[in-house]
Amino acid sequence: MMPLLRLAGVSRVYRTGGGMFGRGSLVRAVDRVSLEVAPGQTLGIVGESGCGKSTTGRLALGLEAPDEGSVRFRDAPLPAPGSAPWRAMRRDMQLVFQDPLGALDRRLTIAAQIAEPLDIHGIGAKSERQDRVAALLRDVGLRPDQAARHPHELSGGQRQRAVLARALATDPALLVCDEPISALDVSIQAQVVNMLADIQAARGVALVFISHDLKVVRQVSHDVAVMYLGRVVERGDPDIVFATPVHPYTQALISAVPVPGQRQRPRIVLQGEPPNPANRPTGCAFHPRCPQAMPRCAAEDPAVTTLPDGRAVACHLAETPSRIAA
Ligand SMILES: Nc1ncnc2c1ncn2[C@@H]1O[C@H](COP(=O)(O)OP(=O)(O)OP(=O)(O)O)[C@@H](O)[C@H]1O
Ligand code: SF4
Ligand SMILES: [Mg+2]
Repeated sequence: MMPLLRLAGVSRVYRTGGGMFGRGSLVRAVDRVSLEVAPGQTLGIVGESGCGKSTTGRLALGLEAPDEGSVRFRDAPLPAPGSAPWRAMRRDMQLVFQDPLGALDRRLTIAAQIAEPLDIHGIGAKSERQDRVAALLRDVGLRPDQAARHPHELSGGQRQRAVLARALATDPALLVCDEPISALDVSIQAQVVNMLADIQAARGVALVFISHDLKVVRQVSHDVAVMYLGRVVERGDPDIVFATPVHPYTQALISAVPVPGQRQRPRIVLQGEPPNPANRPTGCAFHPRCPQAMPRCAAEDPAVTTLPDGRAVACHLAETPSRIAA
């Protein structure tokens, strides 16, 4: 099946810290990332803070243009950010992020905000829009009387539902959800995750689900990408990746999360400094913290190896399957 979204060797480089006299340093926030999202499926993206998850999400939506590589949506290149074709395409791909209060306009009612994308894209006759807003409210589990409220009159979970209703108003094929539940109370998180799964089943929308929460990513994703310092270091079926992680970084991430019904791995505590993309280590960027590092790791950047189970791993150990730690 043709992917809905395809990132091929995409990089994004930022210049930071340049003052009046300094030139600053270059940060490769995303470094030659290749990913695909199939229609109606969920790609989960995990990794430590600063590893490039949000930047990847913005590149996927064309909110920023890549410095290298290409992003294709429905097998066509993304138009330039801000251009008229790009604005038209935005109805088909939407962003939901962590802070629902920041995403909503405090002065407008929930109904007005959900109707906004319909007005912008001229979807449906004016008379139909009210019905459409009512249906969207129902889909995300908000009551009809909550339509007339302002954002501050809703709970955090209800606000995030309103944000989702607005994102779904244009019936997009792709939703990029960047930490959509991390600002919510733990008791509400599961409800919002279940609602997203129901919406996906009903509408066939594809999701890019960015989260620190490995358990939730495992639950919702059809494909998972583990990022480290701007690169994808392991990617594959979440059940396989989470049960038998191959990359030592994935092993460390997963060792910190108890998985019900599965053998708990001894906790791997990563040593060394958290990564700084402005000062990328030589060879494998994970080598200063890797418990399994070999002499060649400091010098040689590992290529991506595809394992027989279909997953892709960027680690020298994966090049010699007998060396993979079980
Ligand atoms: N506009 C920018 N200018 C300069 N550097 C940036 C910019 N946006 C992101 N970065 C840097 O790029 C790297 C990746 O950032 P990004 O926001 O994608 O990480 P993340 O994985 O989403 O982190 P978090 O889990 O904290 O949200 C970080 O080092 C960040 O400081
Ligand atoms: S390439 Fe070497 S340093 Fe990098 S993750 Fe694999 S074993 Fe560790
Ligand atoms: Mg982020």
